[in-house]
Amino acid sequence: MSAKKQIDRIPEPEVMDDKDEARVYDDADFSRVNLSCARRIHRALGAKSGHALDLGTGPAEIPIRLCSLAPDWKITAVDASPAMIRLARSRVKDAGLEKRIRLLRADAKNLKKLRGGFAAVFSNSLLHHLHDPIPFWLEVKRLTLAGGSIMIQDLRRPPSRARARELTRLHTAGDPPLLKQLFYQSLLAAFTPSEVREQLREAGLDLRVRATTDRHLVVSGNP
Ligand SMILES: C[S@@+](CC[C@H](N)C(=O)[O-])C[C@H]1O[C@@H](n2cnc3c(N)ncnc32)[C@H](O)[C@@H]1O
Repeated sequence: MSAKKQIDRIPEPEVMDDKDEARVYDDADFSRVNLSCARRIHRALGAKSGHALDLGTGPAEIPIRLCSLAPDWKITAVDASPAMIRLARSRVKDAGLEKRIRLLRADAKNLKKLRGGFAAVFSNSLLHHLHDPIPFWLEVKRLTLAGGSIMIQDLRRPPSRARARELTRLHTAGDPPLLKQLFYQSLLAAFTPSEVREQLREAGLDLRVRATTDRHLVVSGNP
């Protein structure tokens, strides 16, 4: 019996600092995925209130949605890209949420500026950007309050390029060519659930990893 083949990972540039990339990403309609991600985070927060941390926030759409679902929460939202932080600042201002969402330009693998104690740490679509994810997981561990909630969602790498092309056709129909290309590259850069489990073992984090859709995985738990 032959072992099931899995294509190798092809990492992509870590930070989305290209202006066109940031703009096309901001213009794209991720409302369905972002709303379901915000709802998943909201469920993970439970009835608690406090301070949450979003890593790789992009244009801050998820923290903005989360603020309306969880009116008692404050959020610190981090991104390493100056172009994304600029977009996020303007979106947060338009939403009138400057007092509840604090934006910070920083590398999610090295957040020395933050002391920790976050009741929830979450992230959507950052993990696959990271060339070495271990420092990221160590920061997630350090920054989460004991018993706090972690919810990290990302793409997962399909077994073949043919499947990556099929997923790109399915999920980016009608999108501009640059967005289709970014999605395909992101699928090839993503980790598989078993690679993520190995990373968590190495970082000493006891979290659950599940494939949730045809292209997503979710890492969650309360360390
Ligand atoms: C695909 S976007 C996702 C944005 C947002 N979370 C969302 O779901 O709409 C990934 C974001 O992660 C940011 N990023 C990549 N590497 C990073 C790092 N090491 N530290 C902080 N942000 C990073 C990129 O600049 C980009 O804004």
